[in-house]
Amino acid sequence: MSTLPRLRSQPCTPDDRLRIGVLVSGNGSNLQALMDAAASDSRSYRVACVASNVDGAFAIERAKNAQVPVAVISHKGATQTDFEREILQFLQTHDVELVVLAGFMRVLGATFLGRFSGRVINVHPALNPAFPGMHAAQQALEKQVWLTGCTVHIVNDGVDTGPILAQVPVPVWTNDSEAELQKRIQVQEHHLLVQVVDAIARQESLDRERMLRHLVD
Ligand code: GRF
Repeated sequence: MSTLPRLRSQPCTPDDRLRIGVLVSGNGSNLQALMDAAASDSRSYRVACVASNVDGAFAIERAKNAQVPVAVISHKGATQTDFEREILQFLQTHDVELVVLAGFMRVLGATFLGRFSGRVINVHPALNPAFPGMHAAQQALEKQVWLTGCTVHIVNDGVDTGPILAQVPVPVWTNDSEAELQKRIQVQEHHLLVQVVDAIARQESLDRERMLRHLVD
C-alpha cells in the first residue's frame, strides 16, 4: 500500500480545507458522499468544483443542489489534449489541489497527469489489480470469486493500475446480480473515498490493521 500524497507543507484543518475537484460522468453517488461528509462533519477538505464530461449526468444536479460550481466539458469533438486542457483550466480557476475521479469514464493522458502528477485519485469497484476497466462487478461474478471489493488508488497512465492507497473487501453472494453486487460495493466505496481524501488532507496515514482487523478477529 502506498504512502498518501502530501499536498501541502502543513496538514489541512477544517478552517483551512484542501480544495478538491471531482470529475464525474454519471450518477454521482461517490460525489454525493464526498459533499455530504464535507458538509456535515469537521472534514479537512471541501469540494471546490465538479466537472462532468456527460451533459445530463445526474451528478451535475447533485453538485448544483449542493451549490458547488459545476461545468460540463464534453470530450466529443475535441482532441484528447484540448479536452484535458479545458478541464485543467476549470480546475485551476477553482485552485484545485487534489483531483478525485468518481465514476469518470474517460482515460486521462499526459497533458492532464503531467499537471496533476500524483495528485489524481480514482475509486474502482474491485480489489485491484483484479478486474480493471468497465463492469468490474460483472467480471467478479463471471470469475466466481467469493470476495471482491473496492480500491482507491493514484491514477497513472494505465487503466486502474496506479499505486493502491486503500482497499475494502466485499463478499460476493451466490445469487448476486451485477446490480446487487455493485450496490453493495458502492456502500463501501462511499466510506472509503471520504476516509482517504480526508486522510490526505490531514496528512494522516490510514491504519490498515484497524481498517481490516474485524476480518480476522
Ligand atoms: C463507481 O462504482 C466507481 O467505482 C466507478 O464508477 C462508479 C461510479 O458511481 N469508477 P457513482 O457515479 O459515483 O454513483
